[in-house]
Amino acid sequence: MREDRTADKAPGISRRKFITGTGVVIGGLAAGAGSLFSSCSPADVTRTITLATTKPQFICPYDGKAFDSFEELTAYIALEYPGLQPVDRYVSPYDGREFAALDEFRSYLDNLFSRAGFVRLNVNGTYHEVHVKAGWSLAFVLREKLGLTGTKTGCNRGSCGSCTVLVEGLAVCSCLMLAIEAENKSIVTIEGLSGSGALHPVQQAFVDNDASQCGYCVPGFIMAAVALLDRKPAASIDDIREALSGNLCICGNTKKMVQAVLACSQEADNE
Ligand code: FES
Ligand code: FES
Repeated sequence: MREDRTADKAPGISRRKFITGTGVVIGGLAAGAGSLFSSCSPADVTRTITLATTKPQFICPYDGKAFDSFEELTAYIALEYPGLQPVDRYVSPYDGREFAALDEFRSYLDNLFSRAGFVRLNVNGTYHEVHVKAGWSLAFVLREKLGLTGTKTGCNRGSCGSCTVLVEGLAVCSCLMLAIEAENKSIVTIEGLSGSGALHPVQQAFVDNDASQCGYCVPGFIMAAVALLDRKPAASIDDIREALSGNLCICGNTKKMVQAVLACSQEADNE
């Protein structure tokens, strides 16, 4: 799959459009979008990682306080500014257009995003609004747009398994899936396994069993193993071999990887 690495041009989004008088501005989406519109060069990718906004924020027009949900915002306004109209209009941060109803405003933004080539990717429990081209693979977007370089690419054609991630709980070669196909689906990358700070049991088992050499293929193996054990906690050695059969290790360390995964299987506990 070919990715177009030429620079996209930003369509002139102004952060100043967030500032309004009495209306409610839904920000956040725009903060992420603004940073992502033009990101293709290495410098812009860095900017994307720094500024990518994960979900919309609802900003109080009276004091600028931000909330994660519209309900929290309206409750706050009712409490702190009881005499004032909680919300009288919605203002697009992109072009200043005003709307009287939230549904109308959301649908306008949805159309705007789809026209501009945005997709919403739920990666490791966090939403990203990413500007993509139709032919970009999920692997490319994860690595080059979101900076999640734990997902590796080798063959880029579905043969090595290095790029394996979980999509809706299934192990998927992210080099074969278009980013637009992954919209609003739950995506888990290797970075998402240790979000709490502790290694995932499968990661720990790989350490304990000395299951990596150069390590390049390891994230893909681990994601394939996690998908198996989530689906079948008492996986047999044959199950494990089959689940890992789509992953290649050029260093030839597959035996130890199978041992590591078996150590995490409930079947091992029963032996
Ligand atoms: S890079 Fe995706 S399978 Fe090899
Ligand atoms: S550990 Fe090196 S390719 Fe697998």
